[in-house]
Amino acid sequence: MFKGLQQKWKVSGWQLLLIITTFALGGSLCGYSGRKILGLFAIDSSLPRVILYLLIITLLWPLCVLIISIPLGQFAFFKNYINKIGRRIFGKRRQTTDNKPQEETTMVHHPSSIVRIAIFASGAGSNARAIINHFRNSPAVTVALIVSNKPEAGVLKIASTENIPSLIIEKEKFFRGNAYVDELREKGIDFVVLAGFLWKVPSALIKAYQNKIINIHPALLPKYGGKGMYGAHVHEAVIANKETESGITIHYVDELYDHGSIILQAKCEVTENDTPESLAGKIHTLEHLHYPTAVETLLTKH
Ligand code: GRF
Repeated sequence: MFKGLQQKWKVSGWQLLLIITTFALGGSLCGYSGRKILGLFAIDSSLPRVILYLLIITLLWPLCVLIISIPLGQFAFFKNYINKIGRRIFGKRRQTTDNKPQEETTMVHHPSSIVRIAIFASGAGSNARAIINHFRNSPAVTVALIVSNKPEAGVLKIASTENIPSLIIEKEKFFRGNAYVDELREKGIDFVVLAGFLWKVPSALIKAYQNKIINIHPALLPKYGGKGMYGAHVHEAVIANKETESGITIHYVDELYDHGSIILQAKCEVTENDTPESLAGKIHTLEHLHYPTAVETLLTKH
């Protein structure tokens, strides 16, 4: 049961212990204060007393748990948890009363304040791993899905060890069907991160996730971008052209290869001794350093 909770909330064993302690102490504080407040009312008959007591503790519980969570260092978790309960209750009521199309409500009002990202990758997935590690205990962002076009891709093994749901996509449906937009919405995906994903993103997906799809490219765009410029091809071209620097580009995705507006670039030196492999190593180091934090900045800092 504890393992299940750990996976559900994406917390370490130690944090789970602190969370359970907060629940226990918060509950006790709530019961104690509830009885004190009830004593202030002169109600004799038992049914109204019970109803009033239930009402008081329902209102008091979030406050008590938040108070206890501060010294135990779990305020962020409980703020998010209580928000989530609030959204579940009030969010559902709003959906039945307003007339917004279903499409909009599933995208924008997923019943959680956590931003759910999907990572699309075709290869080993070292960037996916860096992002998963970065957000492991985050109360704000969670890696909710790994998408791959290659059933044998290393990134799918990472997904399975990390207990992250994965989705293997097929060409026909991706390019000529709904581009898996319905499935992504159904899973509450808010944001898409491409990390070594080798298929071009179809416009149906770009339109559904406008300004919500980003990519990382292993060179300083606009140089060394475009069709065929991926993996070792990029580094070989950089070395063949005797460049003295290369780097990474994180950018929004539009309908053209490696073209959307640039979010961040970081550089590294290319020396005479560099080979495509050694350059790939330098680039990976830059990627793992900057991609997770760039995603975090985009999703949490405005
Ligand atoms: C990275 O170099 C990235 O820039 C490019 O594909 C590579 C993926 O590497 N788009 P990994 O699978 O994350 O290790």
